[in-house]
Amino acid sequence: MQQERHFKVLVIGDLGVGKTSIIKRYVHQVFSQRYRATIGVDFGLKVLNWDHKTVVRLQLWDIAGQERYGHMTRVYYREAVGALVVFDMTRLSTFQAVLKWKGDLDSKVALSNGRPVPAVLLANKCDQRRHGLCPKVPKLETFSQQYGFVGWFETSAKDNTNIDGAMTCLVDHIMALQ
Ligand code: GTP
Ligand code: MG
Repeated sequence: MQQERHFKVLVIGDLGVGKTSIIKRYVHQVFSQRYRATIGVDFGLKVLNWDHKTVVRLQLWDIAGQERYGHMTRVYYREAVGALVVFDMTRLSTFQAVLKWKGDLDSKVALSNGRPVPAVLLANKCDQRRHGLCPKVPKLETFSQQYGFVGWFETSAKDNTNIDGAMTCLVDHIMALQ
């Protein structure tokens, strides 16, 4: 018999880092250069045939970058079981905000056993690598371990690089905790 799992996954990070673009790429296989800031929260649904007996329904919560300064994240984060924390590898300020987002997440949601929800770190816009922050950003392997991320990826919503891989990594960790 097939079983269905429903997971609520948050996508968080500063303004304009590419959260909406990552979700659009993952769910609809499209990309647009045009920037329209998300207001509040938006949603995407992705259905995965995870294995021969499991269908995974991922409900992706696309949280506006401006919301960290609002008071809604506690409501939006409720009952989430995983998160993608995104920064723009061409803008240092968005990397510096990563720990603020991770801290906001861990202070407002946890697994039923009190452990933090699994979070994957995304260095997005890697197609712009020549404008990237390589020398300024610490080694992401060390950084992500140190701050409790379960993994990290350089991604591009534009070129469709590592988006599937990052999502699969997150779902792997979520499934392991079920
Ligand atoms: P907020 O909703 O304001 O929090 O922003 P967001 O994180 O949802 O960013 P969004 O996906 O709207 O992308 C912002 C801008 O970056 C848009 O102009 C996108 O086209 C562009 N963008 C997103 N991902 C990539 C990428 O991987 N590469 C490049 N070159 N541009 C990208
Ligand atoms: Mg958005």
